[in-house]
Amino acid sequence: MEAAVRSFDSRELRQVLGSFFTGVTVVTTVDGHGKPHGLTANSFSSVSLDPPLILWSQSRNAPSHPVFRTAERFAVNILADDQVEVSNRFARGGADKFSGIATRAGEHRMPLIEGCAAHLECRLVNAYPGGDHVVFIGEVERIARHGRPPLLFGGGRYLVAQPHDLGPPTDRGANIARLNAVRIATRALVELSDELDETLGLGVWGNKGPTIVRWEEASEPVSDNLRTGLVLPVLTSVTGLAFAAWLPAELTAPFVAAELADGAAPDIDATGLAQQLASIRAAGFASLVGSDGFADLYGTRINAVSVPVFDLDGAMVLALTAIGAAGRLDTGAAGALVQRLLAAALDLSTKLARRAA
Ligand SMILES: Cc1cc2nc3c(=O)[nH]c(=O)nc-3n(C[C@H](O)[C@H](O)[C@H](O)COP(=O)(O)O)c2cc1C
Repeated sequence: MEAAVRSFDSRELRQVLGSFFTGVTVVTTVDGHGKPHGLTANSFSSVSLDPPLILWSQSRNAPSHPVFRTAERFAVNILADDQVEVSNRFARGGADKFSGIATRAGEHRMPLIEGCAAHLECRLVNAYPGGDHVVFIGEVERIARHGRPPLLFGGGRYLVAQPHDLGPPTDRGANIARLNAVRIATRALVELSDELDETLGLGVWGNKGPTIVRWEEASEPVSDNLRTGLVLPVLTSVTGLAFAAWLPAELTAPFVAAELADGAAPDIDATGLAQQLASIRAAGFASLVGSDGFADLYGTRINAVSVPVFDLDGAMVLALTAIGAAGRLDTGAAGALVQRLLAAALDLSTKLARRAA
């Protein structure tokens, strides 16, 4: 065959191919002695619905290739997102890959790995040469779906799936901003926490109210109980107060009403709250000094500051929150911390607006 002159090397090709993200499977079979074989493969793809066909490709150099080349059947185990260890195990050579792995036998004795997102039991119908690989086409004979989220692979790393929250096209700009916001702000949060050496949290308005989606710890963490996914009160947390100050009232009102009704914030009434939120808006940030509302969780009284990040349309999408031991964290408007957080929030808002424009 004529050697093609290429403008890329195999490392570049691998990088480009790695930008196509996939799930992860372990393809299994048994040999003539009933011994199970399996390998991690992300070359799996659907081919046809009627008849039901799938494909995967295997390196000719894989030690298990002769087994798959001659096997009549194979099973595709689509791994769940907590099966990274299983994926690593089956991506290594070795005699005893199945030891300690819970499996059950499929209809034709194909090994089905427990805990997967889904299984397909297949009959080999064709094998095509494909360079240094062989492409196997299988007819799907049995399927099962187990309701677990799948493991993903891309860019040389394992990943987990997040639903894409792009809304209807009319709302596209705002939704892209919201989607980008957490990603961009997460990067900024790491740098900011290093620079300030403070414990920082990233808050979003979730379906249960203010929710911390990311913490970055200071070198001396304020608490070893910083939980991702922590849902905060609206009236007694700085993150909640920031959202209450800047989000449309109809979004926050049910949460505020519930907290006022259950006496979670006995010092606050509706009039006082309106004044408090107005002064937060005027200052540009929310703060609490010596709060003991989180003593149960963090084991200490805290000072805290929260600043808003806005999208292109001026809607608050994130809260950038700093917490520290009471008496230490400077919550003053002219202090270095508040000034730096405000600058970082402005920078993030500008970046989001630019990306959505
Ligand atoms: C995420 C991932 C995907 C892989 N996909 C494939 C694939 O599609 N085809 C293949 O031949 N090898 C693939 N490999 C490599 C094989 O899993 C690895 O070479 C394995 O050791 C082969 O099994 P064997 O040594 O028992 O033959 C992949 C590895 C990883 C980590």
